[in-house]
Amino acid sequence: MTLSNARECLHPPAGLEYPKMADLKVNICGIEFANPILPAAGPPSKDGEMLLAAARGGAGGLVTKTISVNPAEVPRPCMAEIRGGFLNTELWSEIPKERWLETEYKLARQAGLPVIVGLGYSAEQIRELVPLVKPYADALELSTHYVGRDISPILNALGEAKNACDLPVFMKLSPHSNIQEIAIALEEGGADGLVMINSFGPCLSIDLETGLPLMGSKDGFGWLSGAAIKPLALRCVYQAARVVKIPIFGVGGVCNGRDAAEMFMAGASGVQVCTEAILRGPNVYGKIAKELNAFLDSHGYTSVNDIKGLTIRRMAERGAPKAENSPAVDDERCSLCGQCEMSCPYGAISKDDKLHIDEEKCFVCGLCVSRCKRSALTLAQ
Ligand SMILES: Cc1cc2nc3c(=O)[nH]c(=O)nc-3n(C[C@H](O)[C@H](O)[C@H](O)COP(=O)(O)O)c2cc1C
Repeated sequence: MTLSNARECLHPPAGLEYPKMADLKVNICGIEFANPILPAAGPPSKDGEMLLAAARGGAGGLVTKTISVNPAEVPRPCMAEIRGGFLNTELWSEIPKERWLETEYKLARQAGLPVIVGLGYSAEQIRELVPLVKPYADALELSTHYVGRDISPILNALGEAKNACDLPVFMKLSPHSNIQEIAIALEEGGADGLVMINSFGPCLSIDLETGLPLMGSKDGFGWLSGAAIKPLALRCVYQAARVVKIPIFGVGGVCNGRDAAEMFMAGASGVQVCTEAILRGPNVYGKIAKELNAFLDSHGYTSVNDIKGLTIRRMAERGAPKAENSPAVDDERCSLCGQCEMSCPYGAISKDDKLHIDEEKCFVCGLCVSRCKRSALTLAQ
Protein backbone atom coordinates (compact mmCIF):
# COMPACT_ATOMS: atom_id res chain seq x y z
CA MET A 1 0.00 0.00 0.00
CA THR A 2 1.43 3.42 -0.90
CA LEU A 3 1.21 6.31 1.54
CA SER A 4 -1.28 8.12 -0.68
CA ASN A 5 -3.37 4.93 -0.87
CA ALA A 6 -3.19 4.59 2.87
CA ARG A 7 -4.42 8.17 3.25
CA GLU A 8 -7.36 7.50 0.94
CA CYS A 9 -8.32 4.42 2.97
CA LEU A 10 -8.51 6.58 6.07
CA HIS A 11 -11.20 8.77 4.52
CA PRO A 12 -14.85 7.76 4.14
CA PRO A 13 -15.70 6.68 0.61
CA ALA A 14 -17.99 9.13 -1.25
CA GLY A 15 -21.55 9.07 0.04
CA LEU A 16 -20.75 7.09 3.17
CA GLU A 17 -21.15 8.91 6.47
CA TYR A 18 -19.13 7.66 9.37
CA PRO A 19 -20.60 7.85 12.89
CA LYS A 20 -19.86 11.19 14.52
CA MET A 21 -18.48 11.96 17.97
CA ALA A 22 -15.78 9.38 18.41
CA ASP A 23 -15.34 8.08 21.93
CA LEU A 24 -12.65 9.98 23.79
CA LYS A 25 -12.90 8.00 27.03
CA VAL A 26 -9.75 6.17 28.04
CA ASN A 27 -9.06 3.74 30.84
CA ILE A 28 -5.46 3.84 32.04
CA CYS A 29 -4.52 1.38 34.77
CA GLY A 30 -8.17 1.06 35.78
CA ILE A 31 -8.67 4.84 35.99
CA GLU A 32 -11.45 6.23 33.78
CA PHE A 33 -10.66 9.53 32.07
CA ALA A 34 -13.57 11.26 30.30
CA ASN A 35 -11.07 12.41 27.69
CA PRO A 36 -7.33 11.79 27.37
CA ILE A 37 -6.13 15.42 27.57
CA LEU A 38 -4.61 16.36 30.95
CA PRO A 39 -2.51 19.26 32.24
CA ALA A 40 1.16 18.34 32.71
CA ALA A 41 3.12 19.13 35.87
CA GLY A 42 4.02 22.82 35.67
CA PRO A 43 2.38 26.24 35.97
CA PRO A 44 -0.97 24.92 34.63
CA SER A 45 -1.10 22.59 37.65
CA LYS A 46 0.70 24.79 40.14
CA ASP A 47 -2.05 24.87 42.81
CA GLY A 48 -5.63 23.88 43.54
CA GLU A 49 -7.17 26.89 41.81
CA MET A 50 -5.25 26.26 38.59
CA LEU A 51 -6.26 22.60 38.69
CA LEU A 52 -9.92 23.57 39.09
CA ALA A 53 -9.51 25.95 36.14
CA ALA A 54 -8.05 23.04 34.10
CA ALA A 55 -11.11 20.95 34.97
CA ARG A 56 -13.44 23.79 33.94
CA GLY A 57 -11.38 24.13 30.76
CA GLY A 58 -12.19 20.56 29.74
CA ALA A 59 -9.28 18.45 31.05
CA GLY A 60 -10.13 14.75 31.33
CA GLY A 61 -8.05 14.34 34.50
CA LEU A 62 -5.54 16.28 36.58
CA VAL A 63 -1.80 16.01 37.16
CA THR A 64 -0.51 18.10 40.04
CA LYS A 65 2.77 20.04 39.95
CA THR A 66 5.71 18.01 41.27
CA ILE A 67 6.28 18.57 44.96
CA SER A 68 9.25 17.48 46.99
CA VAL A 69 10.12 17.36 50.66
CA ASN A 70 11.19 21.02 50.62
CA PRO A 71 9.75 23.83 48.51
CA ALA A 72 11.81 24.79 45.46
CA GLU A 73 13.81 28.01 45.37
CA VAL A 74 13.15 29.01 41.80
CA PRO A 75 15.65 31.40 40.15
CA ARG A 76 14.04 34.31 38.30
CA PRO A 77 13.32 35.10 35.53
CA CYS A 78 12.25 31.49 35.03
CA MET A 79 10.07 31.50 31.89
CA ALA A 80 10.33 32.94 28.40
CA GLU A 81 8.57 32.41 25.13
CA ILE A 82 11.15 32.01 22.37
CA ARG A 83 10.71 31.42 18.64
CA GLY A 84 9.09 28.03 18.14
CA GLY A 85 9.26 27.11 21.81
CA PHE A 86 9.56 28.05 25.44
CA LEU A 87 12.37 28.11 28.02
CA ASN A 88 12.04 27.59 31.74
CA THR A 89 14.15 27.15 34.82
CA GLU A 90 11.35 26.20 37.16
CA LEU A 91 12.26 23.36 39.46
CA TRP A 92 9.46 21.70 41.39
CA SER A 93 6.68 23.41 43.39
CA GLU A 94 7.68 26.46 45.43
CA ILE A 95 4.62 25.77 47.60
CA PRO A 96 5.53 23.80 50.74
CA LYS A 97 4.14 20.27 50.97
CA GLU A 98 2.15 21.26 54.09
CA ARG A 99 0.07 23.71 52.06
CA TRP A 100 -0.48 21.14 49.32
CA LEU A 101 -1.74 18.71 51.96
CA GLU A 102 -3.91 21.25 53.79
CA THR A 103 -5.43 23.07 50.83
CA GLU A 104 -4.32 22.42 47.28
CA TYR A 105 -5.00 18.68 46.90
CA LYS A 106 -8.41 19.10 48.55
CA LEU A 107 -9.30 21.84 46.04
CA ALA A 108 -8.10 19.67 43.15
CA ARG A 109 -10.27 16.79 44.34
CA GLN A 110 -13.33 19.06 44.22
CA ALA A 111 -13.11 18.85 40.43
CA GLY A 112 -14.35 15.28 40.56
CA LEU A 113 -11.69 14.15 38.06
CA PRO A 114 -8.97 11.55 38.55
CA VAL A 115 -5.96 13.16 40.24
CA ILE A 116 -2.40 12.08 39.50
CA VAL A 117 -0.09 13.52 42.17
CA GLY A 118 3.37 14.62 41.01
CA LEU A 119 6.29 13.84 43.33
CA GLY A 120 10.10 14.00 43.28
CA TYR A 121 12.86 12.93 43.53
CA SER A 122 15.15 10.63 45.58
CA ALA A 123 14.07 7.32 47.11
CA GLU A 124 14.22 8.87 50.61
CA GLN A 125 12.07 11.81 49.55
CA ILE A 126 9.54 9.52 47.88
CA ARG A 127 9.38 7.33 50.99
CA GLU A 128 8.49 10.39 53.05
CA LEU A 129 5.99 11.86 50.60
CA VAL A 130 3.88 8.91 49.44
CA PRO A 131 2.06 8.22 52.73
CA LEU A 132 1.23 11.95 53.00
CA VAL A 133 -0.28 12.37 49.52
CA LYS A 134 -1.88 8.92 49.22
CA PRO A 135 -5.34 10.02 50.48
CA TYR A 136 -5.61 12.56 47.63
CA ALA A 137 -4.24 10.53 44.74
CA ASP A 138 -5.68 8.13 42.17
CA ALA A 139 -2.14 7.60 40.89
CA LEU A 140 1.36 8.99 41.37
CA GLU A 141 3.69 10.56 38.84
CA LEU A 142 7.37 10.46 39.81
CA SER A 143 9.54 13.02 38.07
CA THR A 144 13.05 11.77 37.34
CA HIS A 145 14.29 15.13 36.06
CA TYR A 146 16.86 15.81 38.76
CA VAL A 147 17.76 12.22 39.55
CA GLY A 148 20.54 12.05 36.96
CA ARG A 149 21.22 9.75 34.02
CA ASP A 150 21.91 6.61 36.02
CA ILE A 151 18.93 4.23 36.16
CA SER A 152 19.45 2.91 39.71
CA PRO A 153 18.27 6.00 41.67
CA ILE A 154 15.23 6.13 39.39
CA LEU A 155 14.47 2.47 40.08
CA ASN A 156 15.00 3.02 43.81
CA ALA A 157 12.49 5.89 43.83
CA LEU A 158 10.00 3.70 41.96
CA GLY A 159 10.57 0.84 44.41
CA GLU A 160 9.86 3.13 47.38
CA ALA A 161 6.62 4.37 45.82
CA LYS A 162 5.47 0.82 45.03
CA ASN A 163 6.26 -0.32 48.59
CA ALA A 164 4.45 2.60 50.16
CA CYS A 165 1.11 2.32 48.33
CA ASP A 166 -0.95 0.27 45.93
CA LEU A 167 -1.69 3.19 43.61
CA PRO A 168 -0.55 3.09 39.98
CA VAL A 169 2.89 4.72 39.70
CA PHE A 170 3.75 6.55 36.47
CA MET A 171 7.40 7.43 35.84
CA LYS A 172 8.04 10.77 34.12
CA LEU A 173 11.11 10.66 31.91
CA SER A 174 13.38 13.26 30.43
CA PRO A 175 14.30 12.79 26.75
CA HIS A 176 17.14 10.30 27.22
CA SER A 177 18.79 8.85 24.13
CA ASN A 178 18.59 5.30 25.57
CA ILE A 179 14.87 5.63 26.21
CA GLN A 180 14.09 2.01 25.32
CA GLU A 181 16.57 0.65 27.83
CA ILE A 182 15.12 2.90 30.55
CA ALA A 183 11.51 2.11 29.62
CA ILE A 184 12.18 -1.65 29.82
CA ALA A 185 14.00 -1.31 33.16
CA LEU A 186 11.10 0.68 34.60
CA GLU A 187 8.49 -1.77 33.36
CA GLU A 188 10.47 -4.63 34.87
CA GLY A 189 10.87 -2.55 38.05
CA GLY A 190 7.09 -2.40 38.47
CA ALA A 191 6.16 0.96 36.91
CA ASP A 192 2.48 1.03 35.95
CA GLY A 193 2.99 3.61 33.22
CA LEU A 194 5.40 6.13 31.69
CA VAL A 195 5.07 9.85 31.08
CA MET A 196 7.34 11.26 28.44
CA ILE A 197 8.92 13.70 27.97
CA ASN A 198 10.06 16.37 30.37
CA SER A 199 11.57 19.53 28.87
CA PHE A 200 14.81 19.26 26.88
CA GLY A 201 18.14 20.81 27.66
CA PRO A 202 19.95 22.56 29.01
CA CYS A 203 19.47 25.30 26.40
CA LEU A 204 20.48 28.95 26.10
CA SER A 205 18.70 32.03 24.80
CA ILE A 206 20.20 35.55 24.91
CA ASP A 207 18.63 38.98 25.35
CA LEU A 208 20.32 41.01 22.59
CA GLU A 209 19.85 44.30 24.46
CA THR A 210 21.71 43.22 27.59
CA GLY A 211 23.80 40.35 26.26
CA LEU A 212 22.58 38.31 29.20
CA PRO A 213 20.80 34.97 29.10
CA LEU A 214 17.01 35.19 29.27
CA MET A 215 16.95 32.77 32.18
CA GLY A 216 17.90 33.80 35.69
CA SER A 217 19.49 30.45 36.59
CA LYS A 218 23.10 30.43 37.79
CA ASP A 219 24.50 29.41 34.39
CA GLY A 220 21.72 31.19 32.46
CA PHE A 221 20.54 27.90 30.98
CA GLY A 222 16.94 26.79 30.69
CA TRP A 223 14.87 23.85 29.50
CA LEU A 224 13.08 23.79 26.18
CA SER A 225 9.40 22.87 25.81
CA GLY A 226 6.50 23.58 23.48
CA ALA A 227 6.14 22.98 19.74
CA ALA A 228 9.91 22.68 19.20
CA ILE A 229 10.15 19.44 21.17
CA LYS A 230 7.16 17.59 19.73
CA PRO A 231 9.24 15.48 17.29
CA LEU A 232 11.57 14.53 20.16
CA ALA A 233 8.62 13.57 22.36
CA LEU A 234 7.04 11.57 19.54
CA ARG A 235 10.29 9.69 18.95
CA CYS A 236 10.56 8.83 22.64
CA VAL A 237 6.92 7.69 22.92
CA TYR A 238 7.20 5.67 19.71
CA GLN A 239 10.44 3.96 20.77
CA ALA A 240 9.17 3.17 24.26
CA ALA A 241 5.77 1.95 23.04
CA ARG A 242 7.53 -0.57 20.82
CA VAL A 243 9.23 -2.27 23.76
CA VAL A 244 6.87 -1.97 26.74
CA LYS A 245 3.24 -2.91 27.36
CA ILE A 246 2.53 -0.39 30.13
CA PRO A 247 0.59 2.75 29.09
CA ILE A 248 2.38 5.94 28.14
CA PHE A 249 1.26 9.55 28.55
CA GLY A 250 2.68 11.54 25.62
CA VAL A 251 3.79 15.05 26.57
CA GLY A 252 5.85 17.60 24.69
CA GLY A 253 4.70 20.22 22.21
CA VAL A 254 1.05 19.22 21.98
CA CYS A 255 -0.74 22.38 20.83
CA ASN A 256 -3.87 21.06 19.10
CA GLY A 257 -5.96 17.99 18.39
CA ARG A 258 -3.81 16.86 15.47
CA ASP A 259 -0.71 16.93 17.69
CA ALA A 260 -2.61 14.80 20.21
CA ALA A 261 -3.57 12.36 17.42
CA GLU A 262 0.12 12.07 16.51
CA MET A 263 0.91 11.16 20.12
CA PHE A 264 -1.67 8.38 20.00
CA MET A 265 -0.37 7.11 16.67
CA ALA A 266 3.12 6.97 18.19
CA GLY A 267 1.72 4.72 20.92
CA ALA A 268 0.47 7.00 23.71
CA SER A 269 -2.61 6.13 25.78
CA GLY A 270 -3.10 9.68 27.07
CA VAL A 271 -1.71 13.16 26.49
CA GLN A 272 -0.49 15.92 28.79
CA VAL A 273 -0.13 19.60 27.93
CA CYS A 274 1.99 22.22 29.66
CA THR A 275 3.38 25.02 27.47
CA GLU A 276 0.27 25.49 25.33
CA ALA A 277 -1.79 25.80 28.51
CA ILE A 278 0.66 28.37 29.91
CA LEU A 279 0.45 30.43 26.72
CA ARG A 280 -3.25 30.06 25.89
CA GLY A 281 -4.90 29.37 29.22
CA PRO A 282 -6.81 26.47 30.73
CA ASN A 283 -9.46 26.23 28.01
CA VAL A 284 -6.90 24.56 25.74
CA TYR A 285 -7.60 21.10 27.17
CA GLY A 286 -11.24 21.09 26.04
CA LYS A 287 -10.25 22.68 22.74
CA ILE A 288 -7.61 20.03 22.06
CA ALA A 289 -10.06 17.26 23.04
CA LYS A 290 -12.68 18.71 20.68
CA GLU A 291 -10.17 18.94 17.83
CA LEU A 292 -9.01 15.38 18.48
CA ASN A 293 -12.65 14.30 18.34
CA ALA A 294 -13.12 16.16 15.05
CA PHE A 295 -10.01 14.50 13.60
CA LEU A 296 -11.24 11.04 14.61
CA ASP A 297 -14.72 11.72 13.19
CA SER A 298 -13.42 13.08 9.92
CA HIS A 299 -11.26 10.00 9.43
CA GLY A 300 -13.90 7.45 10.37
CA TYR A 301 -12.39 6.38 13.68
CA THR A 302 -14.73 5.53 16.53
CA SER A 303 -12.31 5.92 19.42
CA VAL A 304 -8.77 6.98 20.22
CA ASN A 305 -7.94 3.31 20.63
CA ASP A 306 -8.34 2.94 16.84
CA ILE A 307 -5.27 5.13 16.28
CA LYS A 308 -3.23 4.10 19.32
CA GLY A 309 0.06 2.71 18.02
CA LEU A 310 -1.05 3.08 14.38
CA THR A 311 2.42 4.24 13.33
CA ILE A 312 4.01 1.18 14.90
CA ARG A 313 1.66 -1.06 12.89
CA ARG A 314 2.07 0.92 9.65
CA MET A 315 5.86 0.85 9.98
CA ALA A 316 5.80 -2.92 10.36
CA GLU A 317 3.77 -3.17 7.14
CA ARG A 318 5.92 -0.69 5.25
CA GLY A 319 9.19 -2.61 5.46
CA ALA A 320 12.15 -0.91 3.81
CA PRO A 321 11.26 2.67 2.86
CA LYS A 322 11.38 3.55 -0.79
CA ALA A 323 10.18 6.82 -2.24
CA GLU A 324 11.34 6.79 -5.82
CA ASN A 325 8.87 8.87 -7.77
CA SER A 326 8.66 12.63 -7.64
CA PRO A 327 5.56 14.07 -5.93
CA ALA A 328 2.21 14.04 -7.69
CA VAL A 329 0.54 17.44 -8.07
CA ASP A 330 -3.17 17.97 -7.52
CA ASP A 331 -3.83 20.97 -9.80
CA GLU A 332 -7.23 21.60 -8.23
CA ARG A 333 -5.68 22.08 -4.80
CA CYS A 334 -2.52 23.91 -5.91
CA SER A 335 -2.88 27.70 -5.52
CA LEU A 336 0.44 28.36 -7.31
CA CYS A 337 1.69 30.15 -4.16
CA GLY A 338 5.29 29.36 -5.15
CA GLN A 339 6.51 28.28 -1.68
CA CYS A 340 7.60 24.87 -2.99
CA GLU A 341 9.38 26.39 -5.98
CA MET A 342 11.26 28.87 -3.80
CA SER A 343 12.58 26.26 -1.38
CA CYS A 344 13.28 23.32 -3.73
CA PRO A 345 17.04 22.73 -3.23
CA TYR A 346 17.23 20.90 -6.59
CA GLY A 347 15.55 23.56 -8.74
CA ALA A 348 13.09 20.89 -9.85
CA ILE A 349 9.90 22.95 -9.48
CA SER A 350 8.61 25.62 -11.84
CA LYS A 351 5.22 27.10 -12.57
CA ASP A 352 3.32 28.85 -15.31
CA ASP A 353 -0.44 28.37 -15.27
CA LYS A 354 0.24 25.15 -13.34
CA LEU A 355 2.98 23.53 -11.27
CA HIS A 356 5.63 21.40 -12.97
CA ILE A 357 8.06 18.99 -11.33
CA ASP A 358 11.12 18.02 -13.37
CA GLU A 359 11.55 14.30 -12.65
CA GLU A 360 15.17 14.37 -13.79
CA LYS A 361 16.09 17.07 -11.26
CA CYS A 362 13.79 15.97 -8.42
CA PHE A 363 15.69 14.19 -5.63
CA VAL A 364 12.41 13.03 -4.01
CA CYS A 365 13.52 14.78 -0.80
CA GLY A 366 9.88 15.46 0.17
CA LEU A 367 10.39 19.05 1.36
CA CYS A 368 7.77 20.51 -1.01
CA VAL A 369 5.19 17.98 0.21
CA SER A 370 5.78 18.96 3.83
CA ARG A 371 5.59 22.70 3.04
CA CYS A 372 2.41 22.65 0.97
CA LYS A 373 -0.35 24.09 3.14
CA ARG A 374 -3.07 22.82 0.78
CA SER A 375 -1.86 19.19 0.54
CA ALA A 376 -1.60 19.64 -3.21
CA LEU A 377 1.56 17.51 -3.38
CA THR A 378 1.72 13.84 -2.41
CA LEU A 379 4.54 11.36 -2.32
CA ALA A 380 4.03 7.63 -2.73
CA GLN A 381 6.14 5.57 -0.30
C1 LIG B 1 7.50 26.33 33.45
C2 LIG B 1 7.51 24.82 33.46
C3 LIG B 1 7.52 24.14 34.67
C4 LIG B 1 7.54 22.73 34.70
N1 LIG B 1 7.52 22.07 35.89
C5 LIG B 1 7.54 20.73 35.93
C6 LIG B 1 7.46 20.02 37.15
O1 LIG B 1 7.34 20.57 38.23
N2 LIG B 1 7.53 18.66 37.09
C7 LIG B 1 7.64 17.97 35.92
O2 LIG B 1 7.68 16.74 35.93
N3 LIG B 1 7.68 18.63 34.74
C8 LIG B 1 7.61 19.97 34.71
N4 LIG B 1 7.63 20.63 33.53
C9 LIG B 1 7.69 19.86 32.27
C10 LIG B 1 6.30 19.70 31.66
O3 LIG B 1 5.43 18.98 32.51
C11 LIG B 1 6.38 18.98 30.30
O4 LIG B 1 6.91 17.69 30.50
C12 LIG B 1 7.26 19.70 29.28
O5 LIG B 1 7.11 21.10 29.40
C13 LIG B 1 6.89 19.30 27.86
O6 LIG B 1 5.53 19.52 27.58
P1 LIG B 1 4.99 20.85 26.81
O7 LIG B 1 5.77 20.99 25.55
O8 LIG B 1 3.52 20.60 26.62
O9 LIG B 1 5.26 21.98 27.74
C14 LIG B 1 7.58 22.02 33.49
C15 LIG B 1 7.56 22.72 32.27
C16 LIG B 1 7.52 24.09 32.25
C17 LIG B 1 7.48 24.80 30.91
